[in-house]
Amino acid sequence: MESHYTLVLIKPSAVQRGLCGEIISRYESAGLKLAALKLEKFPLETFAELYREHQGKSFYQAVVEHMSSAPICALVLAGPAGIVEKVRALNGATDPVKAAPGTIRGDYAAAMEPDNIVHASDALESAAREIRIFFPDFMPCS
Ligand code: CDP
Ligand code: MG
Repeated sequence: MESHYTLVLIKPSAVQRGLCGEIISRYESAGLKLAALKLEKFPLETFAELYREHQGKSFYQAVVEHMSSAPICALVLAGPAGIVEKVRALNGATDPVKAAPGTIRGDYAAAMEPDNIVHASDALESAAREIRIFFPDFMPCS
């Protein structure tokens, strides 16, 4: 089976609340495999690069500052075609108020502040770009 890859970031509030294990279990229970993993505090520039499409939007500065304020857990997930959509479905809607029960955001976040628990890439092309930001040495099938 051909593997496809996507990037997930477990955001600072979820790391602080001890939710990493529970969140990773959800992806693994859905049949996805861990391909890389790190727990680390990254500088603001890292998130400026991640969120470059949002530069100039009202929430941009607050988001990049918050994401660089404390450790995050970064993971690469591997799985079949459709992995990007699958992971975003498991995460739930961006706004936790609209995220369905049973999704990660629906179950663990009540509001966008301080963060909405998880990030996931929105296309295979953005996944490839985003994986390189957090795992510069990542090799598919490694
Ligand atoms: O993370 P996702 O791809 O679902 O959403 P996005 O539209 O790419 O936004 C990136 C992140 O910016 C979100 O996950 C939120 O943390 C934040 N955001 C926000 O604080 N307020 C908004 N109105 C939209 C996004
Ligand atoms: Mg996005």
